[in-house]
Amino acid sequence: MTATVVSPEHLLSPEHLLTRIADPDLHAGGDPHALWRWMREFSPVHRHEAGELPAFWSLTTYEDIRDVYRDPAGFSSARGVLLRPARLGDDPGGGLTLALSDPPRHKELRSLMADWFSTRAVRGLEDSIRTAARTAVARAVEEGVCDFVHVAGRFSHSVICGIIGIPERDHEDVYRWCEEAFAAHTSLAAHPQLMEYFMELLYDRMAEPADDLVSALVNGTVHGELLSEHEVLLNCENLIGATENGRLALIGGMLAFLRHPGQWHRLRQDRALLPGAVEEIVRWTSSATHSMRTATRPRVIRGERVEAGDRVVLWLPSANRDEAVFEDPYRFDIARRPNRHIALASGEHFCIGSTLARAEMRALFAELLDATDLIEQAGPHTLVRSNAVNGPASLPVRLTSHQPVTRRS
Ligand code: HEM
Repeated sequence: MTATVVSPEHLLSPEHLLTRIADPDLHAGGDPHALWRWMREFSPVHRHEAGELPAFWSLTTYEDIRDVYRDPAGFSSARGVLLRPARLGDDPGGGLTLALSDPPRHKELRSLMADWFSTRAVRGLEDSIRTAARTAVARAVEEGVCDFVHVAGRFSHSVICGIIGIPERDHEDVYRWCEEAFAAHTSLAAHPQLMEYFMELLYDRMAEPADDLVSALVNGTVHGELLSEHEVLLNCENLIGATENGRLALIGGMLAFLRHPGQWHRLRQDRALLPGAVEEIVRWTSSATHSMRTATRPRVIRGERVEAGDRVVLWLPSANRDEAVFEDPYRFDIARRPNRHIALASGEHFCIGSTLARAEMRALFAELLDATDLIEQAGPHTLVRSNAVNGPASLPVRLTSHQPVTRRS
């Protein structure tokens, strides 16, 4: 990757960089951490004036970000949770999806889905998750050099498709459509084939419910009313879209091990470190870059007056490098303890897929330890061009095994 590293000279003129905080190019090629570090120290509650984006406040410290997450009544999700150009107005999914609804509706909607992502449910999926990891790694070893983006992508995609109720024969098509939407930087809802596919699935489950999440959504009620077709569709789209965070954490975790081979070696020597390693990968990658909220009443944060209606942006990778909370925060340490990161948010909207994401990470890295002798980077990587999620957009790796490889039929 050709990285434009933010030099100390730039830091002498932070105003310049501050105007670029939401610029996807800064996130894809620069070093937003240098800027966030400066902001935590000198301007932890910073107002950005309107331009292409509406005016918004940036919060960068762990404490402030956690407090906003834990106050869903004071900071609403219903007008959108991601920055979008001012000309587009509020998110049209506001109030309709889990991520974009406020209490009390949020609680009811969440309870429709919660059973599918509970510890018990994920435990029940562990064997199939491990099988999916084995298939993904075997295929990658067979290929020799591969883009790890697709190894992690197909793996995590197959898991969420199984939960939603998408038959295995259609996983590859759905994966391709999602990839097309991500590549075009459009929402999944804008992909006609994908939405058509979901409509058919929805009608199938209306006619004949099955033991899957779409059926739960189709037949579930909120405030005593069935969800509309539109709501079911948007929530499925939201779930598939949200797994992008999980995939980026897997790929970012691989990149972290490639850059810190000593930590990979340490994990090989002591498997008991795996759960802690997963936690550190989640903190280190912080693949969800920001969450946005809209203040519902005036509030003073660190002396700055935030008015009702103001947008407040929470920069999660910054919270997870906050030196007030983490010792030596820029060190990737799989044995870090304590590790109270908030990469998965906190409070009401705490990531519903967190247990699943952790299980996927444990399974994929355990499989890599079992089935490979050597992991190597096989070429330069690139980073995702986005201010909403972060991580590698491509990561060529060579996975070598001295064991016999299971051939695909
Ligand atoms: C390491 C991987 C992941 C990270 C870092 C992550 C991060 C987050 C964050 C920060 C939020 C809060 C967003 C907000 O309220 O503004 C969130 C919510 C959510 N996540 Fe994840 N996520 C991950 C994996 C997953 C997976 C695998 C799924 C699949 C089911 C998922 C589904 C969701 C959903 C549906 C919500 C909305 C929850 C709610 O509003 O109640 N996430 N996630």
